[in-house]
Amino acid sequence: MPHADSALVPEGTITRQQFWDHVYEQLIHLLGDERAWVSNLANAASLIYNSLLAFPPFGSGDNAVNWCGFYIHSSYFPNPRNPPHTDHTLSHPDSLLLGPFCGKPACQFINLAPSQARGVCADAFLRKSSTLVPDVEAYPGHIACDGSTKSELVVPLILGNLSGANQIPDTPDGLTAVGVLDLDCLALSGFQEEDRLGMEKIARLITHSCDW
Ligand code: SME
Repeated sequence: MPHADSALVPEGTITRQQFWDHVYEQLIHLLGDERAWVSNLANAASLIYNSLLAFPPFGSGDNAVNWCGFYIHSSYFPNPRNPPHTDHTLSHPDSLLLGPFCGKPACQFINLAPSQARGVCADAFLRKSSTLVPDVEAYPGHIACDGSTKSELVVPLILGNLSGANQIPDTPDGLTAVGVLDLDCLALSGFQEEDRLGMEKIARLITHSCDW
């Protein structure tokens, strides 16, 4: 099957849960044995975005999903601004950087420093929990990358403790957040609980399919 066809959605009426189950299965095949996070996140963003646009609740006009992508903790980027992995510790977080995405250009840098962190992505990352925002204008600190976005769903990418070979220190809860998966929608209350559950399952698959 051509890679692009993985973003096709079954014809006929399907539920949101069936939709997310379908995307999950497609993603397993699309990722295959690849472990490089840039490659996997790029294809995951494209698959999710294009599948959503092919699914009637999200694919048309005022209800469309308008952005799908990743923000990843700065320590995972080979950037002089960021310390190497040996300095990665969630007790001294610094920033999230824009990762692979589909949609219009978005902010590249989200501050995580204490007292400066704000926005849906920073909150989801620091709390290590999903954040479903029915109305972005009512969310304190929301960062508006696109003024036409009305609602948002952000899911953290969570790994179990990674102490050892990769040098990432233990965290008190035994979990490490590496970044977030962010979805934006042009409609108010665009996302529902089923979408959150579907995205969380997909985020787990993506996180554990990559070497960090
Ligand atoms: N709205 C996000 C910023 C990222 S853009 O939506 C792509 C936030 O508040 O963190």
